[in-house]
Amino acid sequence: MELRAADAVNGVNRGDVIVVIDVLRASSTIVTALTAGAAAVIPVKTIEEAHMLKEKHPEYILGGERGGLKPIGFDLGNSPREYVAERVNEREIVLSTSSGTQALSAVLDAPIALVGSFLNATAAADASWRLARGLERDLTIVLSGRMGEFSLEDFLCGGAILDRLDDRGLEYTDTAYAALLAYRTASGRLLESVLRSKHGRELVKLGLLEDVVFCCCIDKYSIVPALRKGRIVRLDSSAREINNALSEGD
Ligand code: MLT
Repeated sequence: MELRAADAVNGVNRGDVIVVIDVLRASSTIVTALTAGAAAVIPVKTIEEAHMLKEKHPEYILGGERGGLKPIGFDLGNSPREYVAERVNEREIVLSTSSGTQALSAVLDAPIALVGSFLNATAAADASWRLARGLERDLTIVLSGRMGEFSLEDFLCGGAILDRLDDRGLEYTDTAYAALLAYRTASGRLLESVLRSKHGRELVKLGLLEDVVFCCCIDKYSIVPALRKGRIVRLDSSAREINNALSEGD
């Protein structure tokens, strides 16, 4: 497990199967958007890049945040609750956020990178396990954190994913095992724990308590987003996914 997005490169260089987590809120937004029928989410680092893509492709939707709020000229913010079928079905979304899309940009070269959140914890756990076993690779969970720093909610979510794999004989790093223990301690009062995190408190101050509540729903969805050539799409749920991942690595 990498506690900071800046260290994602370690897992990428090893060729690990990667799961990127940004519970508040980028990974929750991505899972929700794809569940609502979005064709793809394109993560970009900067607001300028997002605007340039929109100029080239006026049909794209721009989504994201800076300081938790929708950037000027964007169509949607970074609240997963905004990403409903009426807005996003069959659309491509360019997403730029302060931390989550930065972490995703850091793993663009991974053979396979998935997106995990509380919303799809069991699905992300199962898919990452299947892929890691099929590809004979290790699994690295990357915590996006907040502005380069560790964040509690991502750590707990990493633990939730590992909790679902704990009967499969994994060997943990100490960090990963600590996340599992932390999740088990917090799981009976997950929302309360996340509301006490720095980012949770910031979102509440912005009037976004409902987002925190939403992002703490465990297993609301069963899809798993996967990065493919710079775009995040739904992971193919058939056995073809391993072949796809292998052929992309060629
Ligand atoms: C981020 O990427 O930093 C987050 O998604 C910020 C947020 O919208 O709360």
